[in-house]
Amino acid sequence: MTVTVDWMSEAQNIYWYEAPSRLLDESRPPFYRWYPDGVTNACYNALDLHVSQGRGDQLALIADSPVTNHKSSYSYAQLLEAVARCAGAMAAQGVSIGDRVLIYMPMIPEAVIGMLACARLGAVHSVVFGGFASHELAVRIDDATPRLILSASCGIEPSRVVAYKPLLDDAIDQAAHKPDCCIVVHRPELEAAMVEGRDLAWHDVVPDAPLHDCVPVPANHPLYILYTSGTTGQPKGVVRDTAGGIVALKWSMKSIYNVSPGEVFWAASDVGWVVGHSYIVYGPLFSGNTTLLYEGKPVGTPDAGAYWRVIEEHNVRVLFTAPTAFRAIRKEDPHAQLMADYDLTGLKALFLAGERCDPDTLHWAEEQLSVPVIDHWWQTETGWPICANCLGLEALPVVPGSPARAVPGYDVVVLDEQGELVEANIIGALAIRLPLPPGTFTTLWNADERFESAYFSRFPGFYETGDAGYIDDNGYVFVMARTDDVINVAGHRLSTGAMEEVLAAHPDVAECAVIGVADALKGQLPLGLIVLSDGVSRPDGDIVSEVVASVREAIGPVAAFKQCYIVKRLPKTRSGKILRRTMRDIADGQPFKVPATIDDPSILDEIRAAIGSR
Ligand code: COA
Ligand code: AMP
Repeated sequence: MTVTVDWMSEAQNIYWYEAPSRLLDESRPPFYRWYPDGVTNACYNALDLHVSQGRGDQLALIADSPVTNHKSSYSYAQLLEAVARCAGAMAAQGVSIGDRVLIYMPMIPEAVIGMLACARLGAVHSVVFGGFASHELAVRIDDATPRLILSASCGIEPSRVVAYKPLLDDAIDQAAHKPDCCIVVHRPELEAAMVEGRDLAWHDVVPDAPLHDCVPVPANHPLYILYTSGTTGQPKGVVRDTAGGIVALKWSMKSIYNVSPGEVFWAASDVGWVVGHSYIVYGPLFSGNTTLLYEGKPVGTPDAGAYWRVIEEHNVRVLFTAPTAFRAIRKEDPHAQLMADYDLTGLKALFLAGERCDPDTLHWAEEQLSVPVIDHWWQTETGWPICANCLGLEALPVVPGSPARAVPGYDVVVLDEQGELVEANIIGALAIRLPLPPGTFTTLWNADERFESAYFSRFPGFYETGDAGYIDDNGYVFVMARTDDVINVAGHRLSTGAMEEVLAAHPDVAECAVIGVADALKGQLPLGLIVLSDGVSRPDGDIVSEVVASVREAIGPVAAFKQCYIVKRLPKTRSGKILRRTMRDIADGQPFKVPATIDDPSILDEIRAAIGSR
């Protein structure tokens, strides 16, 4: 069965101040614009609409935090009030339509409230994941130039309290752009020092702020900027527009995830990632579900039964997480004995994404849960799945290793180096024929040219996904690897280029490379190789510790950069290109061909000696 979506009919399922008369403006490819003359508001569609339709008393948001032993919940009416007050407080600080608001927060309800309050005002939020450190935050502050920042005193990791505020202060010091105001949630676990004249406490300015109404915005008004890793250290500010996102996400909740209004949907991710934007905050709320915000880990908070406890306690219907979470659970509780303590009969499906799902993990999850386990493939850029087994349309047989077929709206193809379509089962670049469907990115913030050159120049008429793979005879897509310097660590997308920039800045380092090597738990881990400058005589161990510490300080703990080796030379082609792929194969113990273009093959023996048996 081939399903096509009538995006104009789907648009009738959302609330418009002015309904669009046109479906798509194709006049300036690749800058396609869906519903170009419509007027709407994302917050209205997430909250007000449901309250007006009688869902005010239904739970909209459940926050479950095993790291603080705290739970709270908001009905749609309560969340609407909290958001309208937050919008009022931000408006009082001068925030209005089009202004950017940066959000650097842990997994607390105020993060969701802040995002929706921005949408209410037509302000453009940019959420930065809490695991990024000051330098990364500063880069984002300078690019997004926010008028206001929402933050909190701390995040809570199982092993420690992470003081967010000093990281934020440091980032603002480093950045050339300065926000007018920061509104800070003081969590009981840690009080934050405030900067006079700039910082305000959330509890002083939000709870009694006047309720602010929704501001109608043009359909293509940016809803948010979400920075993601690219090839260089300068992250890409993915821009999502308003109407396309509402229509596509609402459609996906029913058609892909097969949940109905009123059911509990849990995306065990973080609001700092695209999964959090689309499926913790916007998608479930657009479709009238109850969404779950979980501040904890799959293991250690307190044990590998944590997910089962949450599923039972909150009657979760669909769980969405990354395969790495299931690998972590399996490692600690291989026979899922902790599952026996919980009633999981309410769970109808598990969706996995963020990284390639190894068949072993898929089978284990299927056996333990006895529900469909659906691998699906998507990216920050697309905002919702490119390939999936759409349970709400027609459940397909599961083929391990494949996120199934292209979702209606996406025309996925495989291209060779010359941009020619290749036959079934042949690996090439995964690309999507234009136009991309509604809800996908509309540009990169402040970087229209980079948008065009990074994604649309290599294969005219197509979007280049940056992933390589193949499509089999049945139309099942297999996503095998990235074609660029992006790696995937525990489902987190990171740039090896950004890490190389940090290593290269060390005074003793002459040259370096960072590669992603296979890891049984996290999928991939970064591994650094450095060549020291002539005449450096300091102990190797000191230099390695310093570069490891500097990546943690500049990029953040989430980079998980812990392995670094000093080598005499790096293998290169005759034209000077570092052979990262070959080094990755050596590190992974994979067979490899010595590239014909290599400058000096003997270097590979050295590399093998350094990292071949790590
Ligand atoms: N704020 C501050 N620090 C953070 C953070 C945050 N929001 N999130 C992670 N970190 C830190 C961690 O404390 C850890 O620091 P450490 O080096 O001092 O131990 C580091 O960043 C790496 O974190 P993480 O990738 O979470 O690894 P982990 O070893 O703590 O846990 C898993 C491993 C598999 C349990 C974890 O990665 C996980 O739960 N993954 C689920 C999948 C997921 O959420 N994917 C997101 C996309 S869907
Ligand atoms: P992000 O933008 O952080 O969502 O990361 C997107 C990248 O993660 C993709 O380009 C893929 O490389 C990888 N990815 C996401 N989902 C899958 C999947 N189901 N299978 C294989 N790779 C995936």
